[in-house]
Amino acid sequence: MNMISGLSRGPLIMGMLVLVNVMVMKVEGYGAHNYGEALSKSILFFEGQRSGKLPPTQRMTWRKDSALHDGSDAGVDLVGGYYDAGDNVKFNFPMAFTTTMLAWGVLEFGKYMDADLKYALEAIKWGTDYFLKATSIPGVVFAQVGDPNSDHACWERPEDMDTPRTTYQVNETNPGSEVAGEIAAALAASSLVFLEIDANYSTLLLERAFTVFEFANTYQGFYSESLGAAVCPFYCDYNGYQDELIWAALWLFKATNDTYYSNYVTQNITLLTYFTEFGWAAKNAGIAVLSSKFMMNPTLNSSLFVPDADSFVCSVLPESPTRTIEYSPGGLMFKPGGSNLQHATALSFLLIVYGRYLHHTNSSVNCSGVVATPYRLIHVAQRQVDYILGSNPMHMSYMVGYAPKFPRKIHHRGSSLPCIAKHPRHITCDGGGLYFASNNSNPNLLTGAVVGGPDNINDTYADSRADYVESEPTTYINAPLVGALAYFKHLTSLVML
Ligand SMILES: *[C@@H]1O[C@H](CO)[C@@H](O)[C@H](O)[C@H]1NC(C)=O
Ligand SMILES: *[C@@H]1O[C@H](CO)[C@@H](O)[C@H](O)[C@H]1NC(C)=O
Ligand SMILES: *[C@@H]1O[C@H](CO)[C@@H](O)[C@H](O)[C@H]1NC(C)=O
Ligand SMILES: *[C@@H]1O[C@H](CO)[C@@H](O)[C@H](O)[C@H]1NC(C)=O
Ligand SMILES: *[C@@H]1O[C@H](CO)[C@@H](O)[C@H](O)[C@H]1NC(C)=O
Ligand SMILES: *[C@@H]1O[C@H](CO)[C@@H](O)[C@H](O)[C@H]1NC(C)=O
Ligand SMILES: *[C@@H]1O[C@H](CO)[C@@H](O)[C@H](O)[C@H]1NC(C)=O
Ligand SMILES: *[C@@H]1O[C@H](CO)[C@@H](O)[C@H](O)[C@H]1NC(C)=O
Ligand SMILES: *[C@@H]1O[C@H](CO)[C@@H](O)[C@H](O)[C@H]1NC(C)=O
Repeated sequence: MNMISGLSRGPLIMGMLVLVNVMVMKVEGYGAHNYGEALSKSILFFEGQRSGKLPPTQRMTWRKDSALHDGSDAGVDLVGGYYDAGDNVKFNFPMAFTTTMLAWGVLEFGKYMDADLKYALEAIKWGTDYFLKATSIPGVVFAQVGDPNSDHACWERPEDMDTPRTTYQVNETNPGSEVAGEIAAALAASSLVFLEIDANYSTLLLERAFTVFEFANTYQGFYSESLGAAVCPFYCDYNGYQDELIWAALWLFKATNDTYYSNYVTQNITLLTYFTEFGWAAKNAGIAVLSSKFMMNPTLNSSLFVPDADSFVCSVLPESPTRTIEYSPGGLMFKPGGSNLQHATALSFLLIVYGRYLHHTNSSVNCSGVVATPYRLIHVAQRQVDYILGSNPMHMSYMVGYAPKFPRKIHHRGSSLPCIAKHPRHITCDGGGLYFASNNSNPNLLTGAVVGGPDNINDTYADSRADYVESEPTTYINAPLVGALAYFKHLTSLVML
């Protein structure tokens, strides 16, 4: 097993022809990594991020119940959901994107998840059960629980939390179409996941998705304006809410085949002007790829979407003349801002999904004369996943608990503080500082957590708790990776799955 195969392919020699790339793929072979192990761990991670009352089946046992009174200040039950990262706030906007991506991963690749499918479904349901609570009052969507400034000022276990658990909402007078739209998308996508597993639950999710989408569309507005300092700068939505509305309508169309939603998409898609971004803030490239799946569906005009999906691919492929994304010398996709690996996982997921659509329609992408086959898209994605798992200049896995060398001092309160079983006494807001500053490895393994990742200049990683840009895990780094790992687990030859 050659963990560093392919490392020499930096941006300088990435202009190779497709045929050469297919050969490189053969030389590198498949199975450079244990994708099955990484898949199991990537899903287990979500148990470490759980908020609320933990079930007896909880496998990450160092975590205990927390935030059992969330929502009480607003007279509602908002217990549950996920902490977004290494802090203890429940930010519903990225949480909803996380849930949508887990659902999309299961819809595309659930058949390759084997015994882990059960846990992937649990991870989705942990999100949707919470979103049903957050949308139970018509005309209101709860957008967040936890005062982010006081939370971030403390280094406390979730189980000890004593900072204000303020509940924030958007409503008809102070709307928030991005948070409501993304929750509608998560509910609609998840309704498809549960269609044949639990028909009642699926119906419940879909009906709620209708009303939440209607609220998001009827009362259009920016949640960043309605909630201000509660969500900004943490999860400020800089690119507006039009993308979330279209994204939600697209998932609702997928879940219903109702032409109201396809009309909504085709009438409004021209409001989106670029298709290179995809993450918790911008859904654009995801819209292009998801809608391209309807290429053969006569109710959607494919010529509206395929050029957008192609332009996404051309913005990413290393050899593309219209590439906008950077690559580190070691070959990692890089975008400015924190949590860089979120881009590697989300964009790789899209490349795989689109590569498979292209394959099934015998198509390829032509980036101003540089033609990329479906195999090329899959290969670029696999290279990113392999980088994350250890095929990189540091020979380091960026997934906690995978391979011998992985981040030991992640920026994560629960992981870095002693667990309740070993240290039952309360650790205060300031009392945690000792553990934050310690040079010791974190005592609790947040297995499967993928951190922000290395720097883009030298591909180096400091493994420093204080360096949250590099060392903090987030749910939306892992969520797209789950589907990608399931795909690579089963990709055992050049035959496209
Ligand atoms: C509507 O939401 C805003 C912003 O969260 C909040 O200040 C206001 O109290 C809410 N309105 C009602 C009637 O609860
Ligand atoms: C589903 O809902 C129907 C009607 O409400 C009910 O009769 C049935 O028992 C439910 N099934 C399950 C599995 O909960
Ligand atoms: C929507 O229509 C397509 C194409 O006819 C079909 O394959 C799909 O199952 C339908 N979906 C739903 C939710 O009815
Ligand atoms: C999008 O299109 C629908 C009609 O399909 C319309 O009702 C809605 O207002 C449009 N949204 C925007 C922001 O224009
Ligand atoms: C599909 O969309 C393209 C681009 O907007 C347009 O030129 C074409 O007429 C449309 N085709 C149909 C069948 O609506
Ligand atoms: C793709 O090509 C294969 C082999 O040439 C052919 O059998 C198949 O029908 C084609 N599929 C489409 C969607 O064009
Ligand atoms: C790709 O696009 C270029 C124009 O950008 C064109 O000259 C070339 O013929 C196209 N190649 C294929 C295989 O379609
Ligand atoms: C951690 O290590 C650094 C350098 O190795 C040292 O300067 C610092 O004092 C250590 N901190 C603690 C809390 O031991
Ligand atoms: C990259 O490496 C060089 C030489 O070792 C060093 O001077 C520089 O600080 C490093 N940059 C980063 C971002 O780590």
